[in-house]
Amino acid sequence: MRFRLSLLATLLTGLAASSAMAQDAATTLHIRGLAATCANCHGTDGRTKEGSAIPSLAGMPRDYMITQMKAFKDGTRPATVMHQLSKGFTDAQIASVATYFAAQKR
Ligand code: HEC
Repeated sequence: MRFRLSLLATLLTGLAASSAMAQDAATTLHIRGLAATCANCHGTDGRTKEGSAIPSLAGMPRDYMITQMKAFKDGTRPATVMHQLSKGFTDAQIASVATYFAAQKR
């Protein structure tokens, strides 16, 4: 009986761990989905071609991106596109996307 209980405990721990992993995977997918919406203009994986008028996002420092997105959102940084687009993102989404791009190679 003691053996069975410990087996059960092991199984339950395993289950909890795999559901945490599934949660992580879903979060990653969600953030990559958000980041993919930037690819149309900022290039695949946030990398634009050399000489492009649109800046690359890959490797952009997280704090810099957050500051710029907030400035677009509240209109302190004038823009042609980003002032509209940034309004569609919550602060939490902006922070996630900024973390994602900061981790990408330039
Ligand atoms: C429809 C095209 C388009 C899309 C989609 C787009 N951007 Fe932009 N982005 C621009 C343009 C154009 C600029 C230059 C500023 C302006 O005129 O809006 C810019 C500028 C920026 C800047 C400022 C860069 C710097 O060097 O200061 C950041 C940060 C940025 N975009 C982040 C994002 C993020 C994050 C996404 C996705 C959530 C995104 N953009 C999606 C067109 C786009």
